Amino acid sequence: MTTLSFHDVSLRYPARKGASEGQTPLVLDQINLSIETGEFVVVIGRSGSGKTSLLNLAAGFLPPSGGRIAVDGTTVSGPGADRAVVFQDDALYPWLDARDNIAFPLKLRGVPEAVRHTRAQELLDVVGLTDAGRRRISELSGGMRQRVGIARALASDPLFLLLDEPLGALDAMTRTRMQGFLLDVWSKSRAGALLITHSIDEALLLASRVVVLSANPGRLAADIQTGFAAELLGGASVAQVKASPLYKRMHDGLTGLIHSISEDTEAAA
Ligand SMILES: Nc1ncnc2c1ncn2[C@@H]1O[C@H](COP(=O)(O)OP(=O)(O)OP(=O)(O)O)[C@@H](O)[C@H]1O
Ligand SMILES: [Mg+2]
Repeated sequence: MTTLSFHDVSLRYPARKGASEGQTPLVLDQINLSIETGEFVVVIGRSGSGKTSLLNLAAGFLPPSGGRIAVDGTTVSGPGADRAVVFQDDALYPWLDARDNIAFPLKLRGVPEAVRHTRAQELLDVVGLTDAGRRRISELSGGMRQRVGIARALASDPLFLLLDEPLGALDAMTRTRMQGFLLDVWSKSRAGALLITHSIDEALLLASRVVVLSANPGRLAADIQTGFAAELLGGASVAQVKASPLYKRMHDGLTGLIHSISEDTEAAA
């Protein structure tokens, strides 16, 4: 088991050149959070609460202003193959076909072409795109692109998958299908997942833990264990899970919490 951990992490973005003196606002304040491999942690919070910033810190794209981020005790000082990122706008390379997009992280690591292609084809099978490997990115639908993005993230066998609203741009039906798919792929990968969403349903259906972030500055407002994803993986349908009284209670509870946090921050502003 490996742990990705935030220890008293705070973040301020640097002031822009030529900006007036004084500190920029605190974006994240004293974040303490651990994600273990095999866990699916979903971060939810209103727009601007610092979710993407949190993910960029975990990815090593940004240094924290205070505190420390570590993987099994070793401080994160930049991006690494142990932490793969899936962005909201798939961020694929348009000049490469689906297979070469997936194989790209392996190419960077000097993996021979034949091995790369075999692994990419395996991953195309995993994400249900067996016959789409030679298609250009522009020829794929939004859902297919997201699956290529997820396959590319899986190519380096990461310990942690960091997903920033990966399904946000999809229509409701495709999104529901992709949630099931993501849960399935994750459970087979044994990786730890950190996923950001605005959707309370998505959080409850995918998470083993839901973390709520308050805004201005972003602070952890709640950290809740959930078991609905385990029920889905055990064969329950989404409709069955959503119909349970516990699901409704948790949905109402999270909705109330997010609203009350928003009202608090607006009142303080
Ligand atoms: N590169 C940057 N430079 C300066 N400020 C930034 C930068 N990126 C984000 N911010 C600020 O940090 C705060 C948090 O932004 P962040 O993108 O992390 O929020 P978020 O929770 O992901 O929002 P959303 O749900 O809209 O994606 C915002 O006030 C934003 O303006
Ligand atoms: Mg964001």
